[in-house]
Amino acid sequence: MSDAKRVSIADLRDHVGETVEVRGWLYSKRSSGKISFLLIRDGTGIVQGVLVEKEVDSATWSAYDALTQESSLAARGTVRADTRAPGGTELSLSVVEPLQIAEDYPIGPKEHGVDFLLNHRHLWLRSSRPWHVMRIRDEIIFAIREFFHQRAFVCLDSPILTRAIGEEAGTLFETEYFDLGKASLAQTGQLYVEAGAMAHGKVYCFGPTFRAEKSKTRRHLTEFWMLEPEMAWYDWEDNMALQEELVEHVVKQVLARRGADLEGLGRDMDRLRRVQRPFPRLSYDEAVDVLREKGSAIEWGADFGGEDQTLLTDSYDRPVFVHSFPKAVKAFYMKQHPTRPDVVLCNDLFAPEGYGEIIGGSQREDDHDRLVARIREEGLPEAAYDWYLELRKYGSVPHSGFGLGLERTISWICGLDHLREAIPFPRLINRITP
Ligand code: 4AD
Ligand code: MG
Repeated sequence: MSDAKRVSIADLRDHVGETVEVRGWLYSKRSSGKISFLLIRDGTGIVQGVLVEKEVDSATWSAYDALTQESSLAARGTVRADTRAPGGTELSLSVVEPLQIAEDYPIGPKEHGVDFLLNHRHLWLRSSRPWHVMRIRDEIIFAIREFFHQRAFVCLDSPILTRAIGEEAGTLFETEYFDLGKASLAQTGQLYVEAGAMAHGKVYCFGPTFRAEKSKTRRHLTEFWMLEPEMAWYDWEDNMALQEELVEHVVKQVLARRGADLEGLGRDMDRLRRVQRPFPRLSYDEAVDVLREKGSAIEWGADFGGEDQTLLTDSYDRPVFVHSFPKAVKAFYMKQHPTRPDVVLCNDLFAPEGYGEIIGGSQREDDHDRLVARIREEGLPEAAYDWYLELRKYGSVPHSGFGLGLERTISWICGLDHLREAIPFPRLINRITP
């Protein structure tokens, strides 16, 4: 087939009238006697190829019978415009060459249970729903990097093997580290981007983070990706302004560039179009009052459970900030409120439609002695923080940052039921394969 130009299915519309070669896999097939139809996918899209018995040689005509679902193939044909077809084109096939014939592909058009599909995730990724989700994931990652690049942030990658406990001691994955004792997988890159912010002003890290959380909820993974910007001189309100600008940008770009994928998932795009600044802001005190009015049994001082998060965002059509949480439910590094010693200068951002917390952020404690006191209060291993504490000795400045959970954000934007569909190969408390 070397004489025909090889074209991606997504680009066929630019080649109407030309004879091209497409390489891919058989998605499905059907026949009506002298004409048969092959749905071919190549990763960029799906196109229908039409075979007419009297127009092709017998090898090509019999390829139809040989090809099973997900068999790999090369095909040559003429591109025809067809407004009813998904990509606006169809292929009049002249040659079809099977490459490898797939045996009994396990995922068929019938409904499968989610456990079965997760066990076959390495194949399930080829199906249309995961395909749309992963394309949107890619776009979200790109939009995030674009946002920070446009604003002169420097991407400063944080280590995955660490000593310092970034969030809480209870959820560490530990490992022996040669002769140096225990190390653990990073729960957050925050402490390291704080160092980076003192070097570059505005930085971010974006990578996998790990939590040995025993929770089996639809909002928890044991390995998830987190974006963590950190900005010198930003206070907690500057921090919230940046968060809403980011979330608005990401949603807007996904709508602009991945509308067809959102449509493929059946996502209500009008709801996403309403995600515009400013987002509502409630103090924790106010949020507790609202929740109690709505029937929650929450007491001042408790963190919000999943149900509270959903209840709270019910009455809004865009993400909602809750700020100034009780010190007792938040991490050691958050700065104390200047007039309310029981409260810290932090915020969570809750997505609408019951998707829960997508961002946690705060102004950081920049006073050396207060920070030491907090580390002791929390019973954290002080020696592991010696380098972190030095950041408060050599030109400490007010600074803030936040962490955006990538899979939570994807789940919300795609309208998924569970985070496990938002990452290519999910790691859950009861799943480490494939
Ligand atoms: O609120 P978290 O724990 O905050 C931090 O780790 C800070 N150090 C971030 C920072 O300020 N640089 O986590 C941040 C976000 C949450 O809002 C949530 O979206 C996501 O990470 N997240 C999880 N996503 C999936 N599975 C889990 N087990 C998650 N835990 C947190
Ligand atoms: Mg949080």
